[in-house]
Amino acid sequence: MGERAMKIIMLGAPGAGKGTQAKKIAEKYSIPHISTGDIFRANIKENTPLGAKVKGYMDEGLLVPDELVADLVVDRVDKDDCVNGYVLDGFPRTIPQAEALSNALDNKGQSIDFAIDVEVPDGNIVKRMSGRRACIGCGATYHLEFAPPIKEGHCDKCEGELILRDDDKAETVMKRLSVYHEQTMPLIEYYKKAGKLRIVDGTLDIDEVFNAIAEILEA
Ligand code: AP5
Ligand code: MG
Ligand code: ZN
Repeated sequence: MGERAMKIIMLGAPGAGKGTQAKKIAEKYSIPHISTGDIFRANIKENTPLGAKVKGYMDEGLLVPDELVADLVVDRVDKDDCVNGYVLDGFPRTIPQAEALSNALDNKGQSIDFAIDVEVPDGNIVKRMSGRRACIGCGATYHLEFAPPIKEGHCDKCEGELILRDDDKAETVMKRLSVYHEQTMPLIEYYKKAGKLRIVDGTLDIDEVFNAIAEILEA
């Protein structure tokens, strides 16, 4: 085990900045960034059986069934690169997923250290999503206004093409937001009760949000 407890969950609405912050945490503390959304998108791109199962749900802005997610993450956090911790981005997203994770960790005498809620009001979300661009090569995320790439339309890291995600159309974003309120927000109370919840103001600049998170992790 590393010196610091670093089993981290990112909570927050679609577009709150979970992925943006998770990448920075992973880089700074040298732990894996595990994004269920990225895993599913990679599977869709590679036409795997899992990709075929999840695509319809994702395109509609709905959650994929718990049983397609929970085992996948439980297996992933068992890998060697997770011994010093990890940052989970987009999982858990329902109470049953949180319980599946907690049971799996319990069995190993472990538990989550922090659930960080990146708080952004619904009103800011649509603008965030419509400006987001993702690299088809490496998955890096940009924003036309708030985090533009150096060269328009191309990834800073791998030169890949930048595209708008299929589920970032305004109407799908609205659906994802309502799904978030109904199915994922209960996790805030769940982790609060467990004493793991930390809240950061996700409306600040990307670097300011990250500073607030680093303070929590290093406290
Ligand atoms: P997923 O990929 O997890 O999408 P999401 O939760 O909807 O979140 P996003 O990735 O859209 O937003 P984010 O919070 O990562 O924001 P980002 O950093 O990109 O899931 C997609 C789908 O997969 C789900 O709908 C579901 O179908 C399925 N799925 C995945 N996991 C599942 C699970 N566990 N169970 C069931 N189904 C699951 O930032 C957004 C934009 O804002 C970017 O352009 C960024 O540059 C910009 N930005 C970020 N921070 C700031 C800031 N502080 N100021 C200004 N701009 C900022
Ligand atoms: Mg994301
Ligand atoms: Zn790239």
